Amino acid sequence: MLEITVITAFPRLFVGPLDEGMIRVAREKGRLRVHVADLRDHSDDAHRTVDDAPYGGGAGMVLKPEPVWRAMEALRGQGRAFDEIVHLTPQGRPYTQRDAEELSRKKSIALLSGRYKGVDERIVESLVTREISIGDYVLSGGEFAALVVIDSLARLLPGVLQTVDSAESDSFATGLLDGAYYTRPEEYAGRRVPAVLLSGNHEGIRRHRRRETLERTWRRRPELFRDVTLDEDDRKVLIELARQDWAGPRRRRDA
Ligand code: 6GU
Repeated sequence: MLEITVITAFPRLFVGPLDEGMIRVAREKGRLRVHVADLRDHSDDAHRTVDDAPYGGGAGMVLKPEPVWRAMEALRGQGRAFDEIVHLTPQGRPYTQRDAEELSRKKSIALLSGRYKGVDERIVESLVTREISIGDYVLSGGEFAALVVIDSLARLLPGVLQTVDSAESDSFATGLLDGAYYTRPEEYAGRRVPAVLLSGNHEGIRRHRRRETLERTWRRRPELFRDVTLDEDDRKVLIELARQDWAGPRRRRDA
């Protein structure tokens, strides 16, 4: 059982998403428990203020330290102990499948959703164990990022996905992109599914898929090759792709 505690000034953002899809399945199977704590319950004033302007000036707001500290103390008082306290912030390290795998093995984690400008640094220094960003674009707060993290963890918990190998063969679990997928019908809008996929030739299918994986990754995310081991066949495919590029502009649509 993984227990996730979200600390947020916008608890209602979590109401719908936690009750659908894989997160719901994980909760119903007893593999995941999600607790949403409202930071505003720990504010100092009648307006339930939890943020303030940054010292030194500038646009945007910063989460005040006291409400976060008090929220954490209150949770501790309820017997919650966290193996990790994760701060969602655009200044964090890029979130990867590896973070997801590590976090999914913990017993209890806290997700602290900051405003765009984050949380007072003294909270980071005294409480936070990991700072993550979900990509190089701007969100107004960490709430949607926390939901992204929760979804990625839910599907890794034992017994949540239908097949064991589903999570293991996913794009990024292998370190590379997936190729194209097709389902019925065999012909749609005048376009046929690649014949090899209908052939029942398992080795042919495997080679076709591997080639697609390598080609897509080469075209779209070449930096992913830095962290994977390739075999001799893979190298041949990549050399061929490089030769094609060298020979001039591709006629095929970007794979
Ligand atoms: Cl984790 N928070 C915010 N506010 N913006 C982001 C982000 C997180 N990741 C990407 N953009």
